[in-house]
Amino acid sequence: MSTPGDLLFPIRANRPDLCFALTAEIMKGLRGSATVQDELHAFAYYDARNLLGFVDGTENPVGHEAADAALVGDEDPDFRGGSYAVVQKYLHDVDAWERLPVETQEKVIGQTQEKVIGRTKAIDVELDAPGSHKDVNTVIGPDGTEQRILRAAMPFGRPGHGEFGTYFIAYARDSRVTDTMLERMFLGTPTSGPDPLLDYSRAVTGTRFFVPSADFLRAIPGDGGQSSSSFSSSSE
Ligand code: HEM
Repeated sequence: MSTPGDLLFPIRANRPDLCFALTAEIMKGLRGSATVQDELHAFAYYDARNLLGFVDGTENPVGHEAADAALVGDEDPDFRGGSYAVVQKYLHDVDAWERLPVETQEKVIGQTQEKVIGRTKAIDVELDAPGSHKDVNTVIGPDGTEQRILRAAMPFGRPGHGEFGTYFIAYARDSRVTDTMLERMFLGTPTSGPDPLLDYSRAVTGTRFFVPSADFLRAIPGDGGQSSSSFSSSSE
């Protein structure tokens, strides 16, 4: 579902009080000139697991590979250091999910039906699971190498209201890489149907943002050199 917004503030810290305080400060500055479309408070859960119980983020690139996947480089000098972000708020049907045997949540060996995540649940080992979420999101580019994005999804929810969700956010150097993953997830791949994770997860928001670099923001005329944030802002 497309839910447009102009500004996004993905505020992350180990301390929720700091996130809260910064959000409050930003809102003071924006009051009267922005309408909040969505505000979501997420958290880290166990060993970086999502609310489906699986470790999330394992195959993320790290170090210079992360920068290579997420930051615009010399191919677009005016926007070097920026990034293309996609955000989607997913709600999970945890009752249906928990009715699946764990082996099915991971994969069913020798069958073609459900094989949802493509990794084991307890210890997060990769499985050979065609059609799984992992498989659908393994995209090989024209040069024969895997095309990568940097994911920073976090769980959120209100158990008292039956709400269990994943706030998906991913950064890419080339927005077409994330687009290809989303197309494969929602429409299927040449060899498999849509991502089976979507049988248990529903996207209720979806927006893209360009994240300018701090240098880009500082160079905006009239800014007076005051900007120091590398993030764009508003609708979270
Ligand atoms: C309901 C939302 C989602 C959940 C709960 C979820 C969960 C997971 C889990 C558990 C893994 C395996 C561990 C890991 O490597 O991180 C994974 C892998 C991955 N996911 Fe998602 N994901 C979600 C949405 C998405 C979306 C929307 C995209 C792309 C636009 C995406 C792209 C990927 C990629 C690229 C991998 C790594 C594949 C590999 O190289 O093994 N995910 N996800």
